[in-house]
Amino acid sequence: MLKSIVIYYSQTGNTKKIAQAIHEGITQAGANSDIARLRDVAPQDLENYDLIGLGSPVIHHRELPNVTKFIYSMKSLDGKHSFAFCTHGALPGYYFARVVPAMSQMGLTVIGWKNWFTRVFHPFIPKPYYTDGHPDEIDLKEARDFGKAMVERSRNIYMGETGLIPTLPRGREYDKIYRPVSPDSYEETSIFSKLEAQVQFKVNKEKCKYPRCTHCIDSCPMGAIDLSGTEPIFSKSCDVCWLCWQTCPRGAIEVGDLEALEKAHKLLITLLLKKSIETFEARGSFRRLIPEEEIGYDNIFCRTPTPRFKIDG
Ligand SMILES: Cc1cc2nc3c(=O)[nH]c(=O)nc-3n(C[C@H](O)[C@H](O)[C@H](O)COP(=O)(O)O)c2cc1C
Repeated sequence: MLKSIVIYYSQTGNTKKIAQAIHEGITQAGANSDIARLRDVAPQDLENYDLIGLGSPVIHHRELPNVTKFIYSMKSLDGKHSFAFCTHGALPGYYFARVVPAMSQMGLTVIGWKNWFTRVFHPFIPKPYYTDGHPDEIDLKEARDFGKAMVERSRNIYMGETGLIPTLPRGREYDKIYRPVSPDSYEETSIFSKLEAQVQFKVNKEKCKYPRCTHCIDSCPMGAIDLSGTEPIFSKSCDVCWLCWQTCPRGAIEVGDLEALEKAHKLLITLLLKKSIETFEARGSFRRLIPEEEIGYDNIFCRTPTPRFKIDG
């Protein structure tokens, strides 16, 4: 019997839900399927699997470095079948352009990939947001169907059928599908990314309850936080995913100039996110559940008190 595993990284539960539905679909197709969080899997344990699925959110137009690191540690899996999946807001970006070739480079045969538009808790987005309400039942059904399709394709390829391995579109063809807004809009809004890259988190020692609380240390995908010394350290591997800042139970993690970030992000909303989501909607690849008049342009998410959500990974 075909043996499969679905591995996922998730912060707010979207990728976890999609992963669970893919896993269900795989089981329904009669394959033996496991499901596991990225942090619980050692790449050397994957040798017994015939089909390996890997999924995560799109963060900063790509995968987070914990996912990249995991892929590059997947050695000795030559010829095994794999698939990639991701969840995201308005900008799927370079996710598949990076992850699919990286998996192939490790010797895996990538037999499919699929993305889902899902709700977002990015600090500077309006709330409600364009993609809120997803994943819904229709998305989950699509995920189950994708799981089934991956099993069927994998079986057929192992049985010797040729011509079933898809090729990821490249360059302009890729951009047409996953980055449909003109490159100028990315250029004009790059000020936000520049400011974000310079963000330095600080710990308010009066609010922080370390060592009784190690929430930020335990949940940081990059293992970038060290509070054991006299001065808290956020190492260079911090990818500014904002998870610690958004979920600290006591709001003890602080940043400097929030207003500059908010202002720069407003430009990004109008020039990039809105255009992008409208393009996907017009193409029929995104189903809007929140009407435009309900988008909370005056209600920026970071104004909500912390913790802003519970980690669900
Ligand atoms: C810091 C941060 C950066 C993000 N960057 C992107 C992005 O570049 N493109 C996009 O479409 N969504 C982006 N998102 C939204 C997430 O990809 C989306 O909410 C995803 O479903 C979260 O998955 P999870 O619930 O499994 O953690 C970002 C979210 C955060 C918090």
